[in-house]
Amino acid sequence: MNPGSVQAVGLDFGTTNSAIAIVGENREPRLARFKSHLAPFDDAETFRSILFFESTEETGGSEAALSVGNEAIRRYLAAGGNGRLIQSLKSFLADRSFHATEIMGESYSLGDLIAPILIELRNRAEAQFGELPPRIVVGRPVHFSDAQTRADDDLARARLDIAVRRAGWTDVVFEFEPVAAAYDYASRIIRDELVLIADFGGGTSDFSLLRLRPPGAGDVSGSRFEILGNDGVAIAGDAFDGRMIHHVVAPALGRGSKYRSPYGTVLPAPTWPYVKLERWHHLSMLNTRATLFKLRELERESLAPAMIAALIDVIENDLGYFVFREIEKTKLALSESESGLFVFEDRLTQIRREVARRDFEGWIAHQLAKIAGCVDRLMREVSVAPDQVDSVFLTGGSSFVPAVRAIFASRFGAGKIRMGNEFTSVARGLALRAMEV
Ligand SMILES: Nc1ncnc2c1ncn2[C@@H]1O[C@H](COP(=O)(O)OP(=O)(O)OP(=O)(O)O)[C@@H](O)[C@H]1O
Ligand SMILES: [Mg+2]
Repeated sequence: MNPGSVQAVGLDFGTTNSAIAIVGENREPRLARFKSHLAPFDDAETFRSILFFESTEETGGSEAALSVGNEAIRRYLAAGGNGRLIQSLKSFLADRSFHATEIMGESYSLGDLIAPILIELRNRAEAQFGELPPRIVVGRPVHFSDAQTRADDDLARARLDIAVRRAGWTDVVFEFEPVAAAYDYASRIIRDELVLIADFGGGTSDFSLLRLRPPGAGDVSGSRFEILGNDGVAIAGDAFDGRMIHHVVAPALGRGSKYRSPYGTVLPAPTWPYVKLERWHHLSMLNTRATLFKLRELERESLAPAMIAALIDVIENDLGYFVFREIEKTKLALSESESGLFVFEDRLTQIRREVARRDFEGWIAHQLAKIAGCVDRLMREVSVAPDQVDSVFLTGGSSFVPAVRAIFASRFGAGKIRMGNEFTSVARGLALRAMEV
């Protein structure tokens, strides 16, 4: 493609996966491609939103070497625990208590951590498509993870804006992620539709109800996209992982065990390490001297010291990646079949357990109810009855969870459910949206 022929760019900075799409002269969205961890050549349309700080002390350096995406995972695996792997950064954007984190003696703001991921996305897109215009449309959830108020959402958007500008864009426009997914979905409809879009990612589940018109119709009279309402909730794939950690992993690492207090009474182990364990982006933040000191104290007084030692091992040696990788494997297996095997075997921890889909669905029942409640709230707010909805477009990686799909099948009917472009619909739609702004 000739430099300068890129007309519009859309950026989906996801909690788990990011993607960047452009629209060229033919008005079709195209995605930048990245090296996948499965193949040495560029064949993936998404990029893991992950970064790794590697200590260079052993090789004579004094600074932490930074890598992003699949390269970060590769370097992490090669470094044998010597470094810090950070993911789900998007979930910190609305967190007012997050000012900076210390990594190998240096302080990093959220912008410092997110910008390298966005810079890599930009570089890959430019290598493939040529120079990019200064304007970009960036996706955002309806409500960011942990945002309690409108002001928290505004803070999160402003922080993301800073990171996008640091990656070289000067004209930044935000769009709700499910609205973006609607732009992708709309390119395949052939008649007017009232559509509920539901995007289930790693950090958030987002919904938009729109009246859509098929391609070509907008050229005749007005926009093809009429937004009736949006809503969202910070419960998605990471929360499902957390529930599985709670039931499958945490008990082996001392959740529910007892310790002897300084007054001689036997007390239950504190819950805070396990609350953090359930959310990997918090787990990597536990790896501080002060926290490890507290946990060693607990180990000394514990009635199950081997379990607490195993917990310390997971935190200190940054094994969260392996734990969550195995949890995700089990979760993916449960989307396909009625049961999935979880295996995590390490020096101090051996867990091997067959997980039944029915059990998993019980563990996430509360989360599913909140997601369903959010859908019902949106429908009430816009005063639309389920039978008025023509189709329901489910997208995002967590839309593969059968119990998530069941929420919509029971309300709208299985025949109305449409799926597709689960990992790229938002980026494609953002690029299409960018043609309009
Ligand atoms: N087959 C599957 N079954 C269940 N979950 C899956 C499957 N495939 C992917 N996921 C989950 O989907 C999530 C990632 O989806 P996606 O890439 O759409 O999220 P994201 O865009 O990064 O997050 P967000 O939109 O919340 O910022 C992860 O939690 C992943 O474990
Ligand atoms: Mg997403």
